[in-house]
Amino acid sequence: MSDRWYSKAVIYCLDVDTYVDSDGDGVGDFRGLIGRLDYLVRLGVTCLWLNPIHPTPDRDDGYDVTDFYAVDPRYGTLGDFAELLHQAGNRGIRVIIDLVVNHTSDQHPWFQSARSSPDSPYRDWYVWSAEAPPDRHQGMVFPGEQDETWSYDRTAKAWYYHRFYRFQPDLNVANPRVREEIKKITAFWLQLGVSGFRIDAAPFIIELTEPGNPNSPKDFEFLTELRQHVQWRRADAVLLAEANVEPDGLVDYFSDGGGSSNRLHMLFDFMLNGRLMLALARRDPEPIIEALRDTPALPSGASWATFLRNHDEIDLSRLTAEQRNEVFEEFGPDEEMRLYGRGIRRRLAPMLGNDRRRLELAYSLQFTLRGTPVLRYGEEIGMGEDLSLPGREAIRTPMQWSYLPNGGFSSAEVEQLVRPVIADGEFGYEKLNVTAQRHDPGSLLGWFERMIRTLREAPEVGAGSCTYVDVLAPPGVLVHRADDASGAMLFLHNLGTDRVTVDLQSLAGDAEFPNDVFADQEYDPVGKLDALELAGYGYRWIRLHRSPAG
Ligand code: NOJ
Repeated sequence: MSDRWYSKAVIYCLDVDTYVDSDGDGVGDFRGLIGRLDYLVRLGVTCLWLNPIHPTPDRDDGYDVTDFYAVDPRYGTLGDFAELLHQAGNRGIRVIIDLVVNHTSDQHPWFQSARSSPDSPYRDWYVWSAEAPPDRHQGMVFPGEQDETWSYDRTAKAWYYHRFYRFQPDLNVANPRVREEIKKITAFWLQLGVSGFRIDAAPFIIELTEPGNPNSPKDFEFLTELRQHVQWRRADAVLLAEANVEPDGLVDYFSDGGGSSNRLHMLFDFMLNGRLMLALARRDPEPIIEALRDTPALPSGASWATFLRNHDEIDLSRLTAEQRNEVFEEFGPDEEMRLYGRGIRRRLAPMLGNDRRRLELAYSLQFTLRGTPVLRYGEEIGMGEDLSLPGREAIRTPMQWSYLPNGGFSSAEVEQLVRPVIADGEFGYEKLNVTAQRHDPGSLLGWFERMIRTLREAPEVGAGSCTYVDVLAPPGVLVHRADDASGAMLFLHNLGTDRVTVDLQSLAGDAEFPNDVFADQEYDPVGKLDALELAGYGYRWIRLHRSPAG
């Protein structure tokens, strides 16, 4: 049985500034978060992923860092952060933080120095070109908000490269001093007690940018180097990276080909995310089956991190144009719900019409499919989005805790809030908040708690193999299973609306005393697996067998 904590974790992602404000200045902070750790324990969270916590001009929600060795003073002090690590650790919760080292803010002292003179010791920490690179209008990540990837800097009298916004100059990872600095940054936070990093924009970090070459080579060796360094400093630290790349390029991020993972431990499963959205939109599991079939096998020790929503738009760029339109029509019918021509800037509950059955189905799928589930704050109570906010801010509104003003997020005046709390309609805090759901045993929050508790008793999910069970099932039904030495679980999900009966007696030989451990409703006993009822949008988690030793 695997003892790698990350393959059995439930990761919860939050942005400190929109979680809880303890001192009434309108911005969430570490002390506020410490006060909600017990809430997270009860939910079943075992690892927190904090969006960037460093000082920042905040032009990209903290992904524009001015000091990698400090915390944003609005969140508290480094002492408060150390206390958070301690308090979380006491409760068995690990903390990982965003490592945003593809670029810095243009206000970072390194860039300020670099641009000031060709002789600056930091000049070659960034990527420059004396001439205007002919490919400067290619490779933008934020089309519509960004129209080039090279900008001219008058002070430097040169062009600098920025894969993202122009205020985020790329660091030059080909420079050994930059590589050493990145390692030093990881060492600093590991020393303080974090359990690893969510690596922002991994494919771009390792890009050896050449002006005029839109397909510049990548240096995967840097990932091997970084892994060695991190693992030496803290043996159980994890590297979880964002790398939304084609399936045939994925394995290189995990391993140099030697059979076991010696680069990143985990990657977000963008491939599955897009296919899950398509499957939900079509009410047909085929895209999920394809994703399970088409993704390359992972080297040992490597894992997926699955998600439905994160802090960015839902990225549908790996789907065909036709598939993308199907998802747009179902989940983002209005232009204002879409972003960058490829994504949807909505939370899951409104996307699914706030249909409780469909929401449970979607999250049951996410949590039982391969890999480690990552849950975005607020999803556990079914929060909505605020489309009047620009771009991705729509899905970054403050957590809704209670009926108190500002949803209990902050006691500040409304105008002082880092972002407005959703106040109106069915997703407004007076209707939708943690306190309300705490008093309702049938709430979505209660469902999440029970679901995660059940998952904890099924270690084969996440740590074991996840396979599609190829049987003749009614349309709309996905059958998959999870296996490892500890036991086997069988999962039925009905993405369609019709009640169906599924015959899985061919699996009976593999079962000891098969029984439902979690389901959308009470069903007749599993019996010989030959007539399993399943409601529209229904799901059943059936334990096939469990090793007494596992
Ligand atoms: C990816 C992050 O998820 C996104 O929020 C950010 O804007 C870009 N990287 C740039 O850092």
